[in-house]
Amino acid sequence: IEKEALEKIANANDTKTLQDIKVTYLGKKGSLTSVLRGMGKLSKEERPVVGELANQVREKITTTLEEKGEKLEQIALEKQLEKEAIDVTLPGRPVKIGGPHLLTKVIEEIEDLFIGMGFEVREGPEVETDFYNFESLNLPKNHPARDMQDTFFISNELLMRTQTSPVQARTMREYGGNKPVKMISPGKVYRRDTDDATHSHQFTQIEGLYVDKHVRMSDLKGILDTFAKKMYGEDREIRLRPSFFPFTEPSVEMDISCKVCHGDGCSVCKGSGWIEILGAGMVHPNVLSMAGYNPEVYSGFAFGMGPERIAMLKYGINDIRQFYTNDIRFLKQYHNA
Ligand code: PHE
Repeated sequence: IEKEALEKIANANDTKTLQDIKVTYLGKKGSLTSVLRGMGKLSKEERPVVGELANQVREKITTTLEEKGEKLEQIALEKQLEKEAIDVTLPGRPVKIGGPHLLTKVIEEIEDLFIGMGFEVREGPEVETDFYNFESLNLPKNHPARDMQDTFFISNELLMRTQTSPVQARTMREYGGNKPVKMISPGKVYRRDTDDATHSHQFTQIEGLYVDKHVRMSDLKGILDTFAKKMYGEDREIRLRPSFFPFTEPSVEMDISCKVCHGDGCSVCKGSGWIEILGAGMVHPNVLSMAGYNPEVYSGFAFGMGPERIAMLKYGINDIRQFYTNDIRFLKQYHNA
């Protein structure tokens, strides 16, 4: 029995086989166990001899099994270590880092420009009342100019704001009618437009408002000229064309001279050489007085621009939907812009 067992142990290559061997020889029904069980049938003289021999054999098999088991475990461990070895000299995998959205960057750039000229940044709600979005801006109910901005109404009195201009009215009311106001207000606006390359049912605007004693139209022109040159380059010029907004009088639209420069030179953009970029005007007396400012004492200018449009002109983007569809290939181009 001993010889046979030791041979099997020597040939065993895994712990499962070792376990089987253990059962075959030392288990409850194992061959050595049955020898020990059969002891009762032996004579008094034979019993101690056979007993001692059987115990020696059991011990031998047990220790050999243990030794072999340890050896197998050792081998298994070495194999595993080999398999899991880490080559610390391999170059690391680059970590992909995101960046702010182009629109966020342009809005922040515009904010910085106006903060530098003494404007404070104010925000207002996107779900707005009819009063602030329209009535306080000289657009009473049924005013035809409401059609200029097709509106998502939530109820009779609540709507998704169609412009950032309500923040003008809110801010003036908060200031109480006897302090100058100099603010810009960036944020999302909503209109019932069908999405295409130049329209989106949701886009952003930045409103500007300056109210004080003796604010004149030339102040508006100076601020806008500074903005255009800082945003697009010192060689740009602006022109103001007469326009209409219910909350400003007179109202203007501002064009910027468009010279498009690429690496290999500059060319003037197609058409007239001017591109419209924002609406503005002198705050309407009705808007001032509804907000508690006496139009005999105070005057002001306001303007509103679309950061998407500003960004499209600056970076040659031809489809507004690029800002919202989050194509990483588009977004990545502007990470270092
Ligand atoms: N709110 C106007 C619009 O959305 C823009 C504007 C703002 C015009 C302020 C004049 C003054 O079209």
